[in-house]
Amino acid sequence: MVKVYSSPEVGKVIVGRGSLYRLKDELDLLRPFKVMIVTTENVAKLWLDRVLTLLDRVADVTVLEDGELAKDLKVVERLLVELLRKGFTRKSLLLALGGGALCDVIGFTASIYMRGVLLSLVPTTLLAQIDAAIGGKTGINLEGKNVVGTFYPAHVTIVDPELLNTLPKEELVNGMAEVVKYGIALDQQLFELIELIDKSSLTDVSFLDKVVHECVEDKIRIVIKDPREETGERMKLNFGHTIGHAIERLSGLEHGRAISIGMVCECRVAELVTEFKDTDRVKAVLEKLGLPTQLNADPKAVLKLIRMDKKSWYGKPILALPTKIGSIAIKEVEEETILRALGEAS
Ligand code: GLY
Repeated sequence: MVKVYSSPEVGKVIVGRGSLYRLKDELDLLRPFKVMIVTTENVAKLWLDRVLTLLDRVADVTVLEDGELAKDLKVVERLLVELLRKGFTRKSLLLALGGGALCDVIGFTASIYMRGVLLSLVPTTLLAQIDAAIGGKTGINLEGKNVVGTFYPAHVTIVDPELLNTLPKEELVNGMAEVVKYGIALDQQLFELIELIDKSSLTDVSFLDKVVHECVEDKIRIVIKDPREETGERMKLNFGHTIGHAIERLSGLEHGRAISIGMVCECRVAELVTEFKDTDRVKAVLEKLGLPTQLNADPKAVLKLIRMDKKSWYGKPILALPTKIGSIAIKEVEEETILRALGEAS
């Protein structure tokens, strides 16, 4: 089943097995002057030829480093110069073929080059398909994670779960952290479904299809209500990320694994300031999936990075905290409370 969502807040998002075959028609509708595909080495080996064949037009190709290393101002500058020297005009298109970090940095570059060019995202990881590529957030790192960025929904996003067939199991596990996040933050039924599965379900095509469809739908619903994270609605999606981003930065763990620990820590904060009681249930699900749950970082160093979080609007940390599975409240939290919870999670 292929579903199409279209709104100014999220652009056009085409989700489902086989949606990659629509790429050419969708890009033709945008009538780009030039196209640059930006990808990473691993993804290029697996999918670049297929995408070039499907596109059936001349396109420049640029290959970036894998992962968070690409989310750097110097990489953006290099890309901007390349676009300019190659004659990319405002009516040209950048196509990001890769994971969440690549979508973040290419989205950012597309949003600032000539004040904004056409953008298409083809996410190739579970994490990017259900979260990073949906909803227009772009970003690069500067001391802290995603400190610099814009809101710039891609004109066309193709979410094809078939691209997950070549994804290493470890990367699927990494992406499952975000699936668990959706369950805890918004979708009790999804959480209960994950409680029932075992690790072998991660290679079950119909399970992955279901999860991708449900998470994308959950995310689009929230982004349409609060596209620029102003009302608190979209902040719900940051559950696990305030502490998780700090852990990611300090430990170098992959995003999903850092978020897994971040979710456990934030559940402990929730137990201190809300009626939430299900930290052990959350921990059990994450551990069953093979995700880490133990904090291996100095709580004070974590707190220092939390101070750079974009949600600390008036200087105090604001966290998205579960009140029960499937329900989240946005709360300003004292730093001492966070330190206490981090101490318990160590
Ligand atoms: N990843 C959270 C958001 O897009 O708002």
